Parts: sequence; C-alpha cells; structure tokens
Amino acid sequence: MFIVANWKAYVENTARAKALVAVAKKLGRSGEPALIVAPPAPLLGLLAASNRSKVGFAAQDVSATLGGAETGEVTAATAAAAGAAYAIIGHSERRAHGDTNEIVAEKIAHAFAHGLTPILCVGEHEHDPEGRYLGFIREEITAALTPLPGKARTQVIIAYEPIWAIGKGANESITPEALAEMALYIRKVLAELLPGKSGRQTRILYGGAVEPGNIRDLAASTGIDGFLVGHASVDPHTYTALVRALA
Ligand code: PGA
Repeated sequence: MFIVANWKAYVENTARAKALVAVAKKLGRSGEPALIVAPPAPLLGLLAASNRSKVGFAAQDVSATLGGAETGEVTAATAAAAGAAYAIIGHSERRAHGDTNEIVAEKIAHAFAHGLTPILCVGEHEHDPEGRYLGFIREEITAALTPLPGKARTQVIIAYEPIWAIGKGANESITPEALAEMALYIRKVLAELLPGKSGRQTRILYGGAVEPGNIRDLAASTGIDGFLVGHASVDPHTYTALVRALA
C-alpha cells in the first residue's frame, strides 16, 4: 500500500516541514506502507535533496511550460532536479485554477520526459444518483492517458478523489462499498485504454477525507493500492495513526 501525503499549503515553515519528514522517515523504514511526501515546491528541494531514506517525494504540480521566460512556473525538470520522483497532476484544487484535461495531459507528458511518475487526480463534483459522474471520470482518465504510449499508460498512478469528500471529516467520506465499485469501474476504463491488459496492474489511490478513523475500512477489500491524504497528513499524530493503520 501507498500513502501519499499531500501537504497542500498547510505546511509553511521549515521547522514544521523537517519535523514531519523526520516522522515519515521513521515510519517509512519498513517500506510498508510505502510513504511519499508532497511538500510545497520551495520546501521540496530542501527536504528531498539529501534524502537517503525509503520515503519518496512528489511535486504537488508541474508547469505546463517547458522553462524559459515563465516567471513563477515550476517545471517538471525543476521538480526532478529538486529530488521529486513523482508529480501530482490534475488535483481538483489545480483544476479549479484552470487546469483543463488538455493541460493535465501536457503536464503528464512533461513529467514523464523528466522521469517523474505522474499521480493523476480525477474526481467528480457530485455523486449524482443517475451515475453521470461515471462518464465524467471516464473522460478525465481517457483524456489524460490517450496521448501516451502504451507503456507509459500503465505507469500513471490514478488517484480517485471525489471533490465532495475533499477536506471533510471521515463521516462524510466515501463508503467502502462505493469505493470498491469505483475502483472496479476505473479498472474497466483502464482495460479499454490498455489493450491486452486488464487494468489490474495500474496503481489506484483514493483521496478525500481519509483519516485514522476510516483508513482501514477503506483499504479492506476495496481493490485500491493506497491513499492520497491531505489534512490528516500534516499533523504528526494523525499521520502516524494513518501509517500504523496500514502497517
Ligand atoms: P483531504 O484532501 O485528505 O484533506 O480530504 C485530500 C486531497 O485533496 O488530496
């Protein structure tokens, strides 16, 4: 199992960042669950450059540009140079700032070009009873994977993050039953995009209101490979409880 700690902009100073990474390094020694930390860009280099532990680092985003006269952009090359091995791409909080499916596809290409494994976030605004959200998820996955060659398609990690659950408490998260259905559906969509493959080898994460109180239930027989955790990953106590729940 994986736990990707998406710090978002919750962690804003060096001392707190270093303390959290120290906790991750200690908890990550056994390698199970595998721990990945996604700090804000300026802290990434500081924390990842001298990393000799099993903890992996992710960029929270990469630029759609390729460098040059682009003030304020953090390119995939920069993220890789800073020590990232992964890049979260298409998070709903980036899509809310204008990332379209086309931009997400470009960012994924840039990530691969610099050796970063993309963690593609997909997720619907509303779990409507008519099931229109399924088409929405299909479209997000298809638009991101179609431009890629076959091998790269299998390497993208998919993070299913329903927007209605993000930032909420465990009692408002998805149910294990609904998550199991969604994981099956995503693997069906993947099987169509990965000819000759079942979609079973793709790593699927879940994110949205994952807390110590629900992580074990969401991990049990839902068919996912891990979690992308926001608010519960930036407190050393809840983070420790999350990791221990999967150890
Ligand atoms: P949350 O966020 O764990 O705070 O719900 C998850 C995410 O947005 O990645």
